[in-house]
Amino acid sequence: MGHGRHRSFHPLFTESMKEVYSEKRYGIALLSENHMETLDVLFQTHMNNKELFDTLLQLRDDDSYSYQHSFDVFVLGTLYGMYIGMEDLEVFSESCLYHDLGKIDVDTSILKKPGKLTSDEFKAIQEHTIFGEKRIKEQVGTCMASRLARSHHERLNGSGYPDGIHVHPYEQRHTAIIAILDVYSALTLKRTYRQPLPSFEALEELAGNPTLYDEGLVKGFMEMLHIYPVQSIVGLSNGEEGKVMYIKENAPFLPLIESNGETFELPVNRSLFIASYQGRAGRKKYVNSDKDRFIEALIEGDRGRAEFELDRLADNKRVEEVYIDLIGGALREIGDLWETGRISVAEEHVASVAASEILHTKQKTYVRNGSSKEGVILTTTLGDEKHLMPLQLFGEVLRANGWDVVNVSYPLPYEILADYVEKMNISYIGISCTMKENIPVIEEAVAYIKEKVPNVSVIAGGAGVAGTHISSADATTQTAREGLDVLSSWVRNR
Ligand SMILES: [Fe+2]
Ligand SMILES: [Fe+2]
Repeated sequence: MGHGRHRSFHPLFTESMKEVYSEKRYGIALLSENHMETLDVLFQTHMNNKELFDTLLQLRDDDSYSYQHSFDVFVLGTLYGMYIGMEDLEVFSESCLYHDLGKIDVDTSILKKPGKLTSDEFKAIQEHTIFGEKRIKEQVGTCMASRLARSHHERLNGSGYPDGIHVHPYEQRHTAIIAILDVYSALTLKRTYRQPLPSFEALEELAGNPTLYDEGLVKGFMEMLHIYPVQSIVGLSNGEEGKVMYIKENAPFLPLIESNGETFELPVNRSLFIASYQGRAGRKKYVNSDKDRFIEALIEGDRGRAEFELDRLADNKRVEEVYIDLIGGALREIGDLWETGRISVAEEHVASVAASEILHTKQKTYVRNGSSKEGVILTTTLGDEKHLMPLQLFGEVLRANGWDVVNVSYPLPYEILADYVEKMNISYIGISCTMKENIPVIEEAVAYIKEKVPNVSVIAGGAGVAGTHISSADATTQTAREGLDVLSSWVRNR
């Protein structure tokens, strides 16, 4: 219950919030109650510590990222403190805001250096912990603030700095918490030299390293955000157990869930939601070779890892090889795994969606520049095709080879298709056929189109036409590569 009167936020609070706020990062932690008001009140309280706050503003002038990150850790720390009912919330909240204040004493050029640091530079950066502690003591900050400025880079197993102490998650609870928030903030904020890591991948990093970060505290943090990594085993609000299958980047708190043999997206109205995190699903072993790590990541819906594996495999490969051998080959193997019952329908679906998204983002990286236009081709399916990836893949291979591709990813009635091809002056049609049952439909449709538009050349291809051919088409091929070769020869002979 509010007081019926709208307080306005401090302008700097609003401005700072705009820079760091995103549901992709905070999940739905900020959407409940009047957390925004509490944050603003606390921020203004911390501003009252003139000396410390002036130093923070100075840091902002030197390096705006360090300020954003400090503010972000303040927001995350305050929300987390409230979430777990921390008794000394106000002091902890202040400690979060000033945890990196010692960066003011580190050479700005090192602070802002993109990419890898030399070991000397790294040592210089590490000193911000000691500088911070000293400054906060001198500028009469709280005991906790100076202590956390020193200890926020320490880890449970003693591998942190500056002291390499073993953090005990109960005795040094604040240190164990701020360490988690600090890493999460650093990984998920945008830097000038790299893209931010999606929140669920940052959480995977935290949950995957229980020797560094306390598992119970990471679990609480995920439950506060309502964001969980792929392959998390979770408890649902209806009492059932589920597994996080796939996460859309823009709404990480509404993942695709598998539960009781069914796969569904969590509803936007939150009538069903994830109530608890139970751990990570054990890895199934699908395959053994190097290339299979890419396949495994696709099946697990781990787009980040799949992209990373693909980049490794794609090194020095030509664009056709990336599309046909790597992505196409992976999809064929995933199809086999599904047909032999080694993965579920949901996993096959997830793998296709992930492959399709990667294809989309990678297109720009792999497609050759300056290739000459070969011609315009319409690619489509006919009949009741369930597998649209091969069609998309074929389209990408053609684009990469200078074709202008008009992709119609659903079967049109023949008359409309013929009409469209005629009006648009399209000379080539590619039809993808992955299912044998569709051969008669394709025969009939192609015959119809060729009669209406005699100049068009039609190529039909895909796994569905293996060992047979479509007699009304001009060519039948099984692989995308064969299709590309046939089309190139047609263009040369035209
Ligand atoms: Fe730090
Ligand atoms: Fe930090």
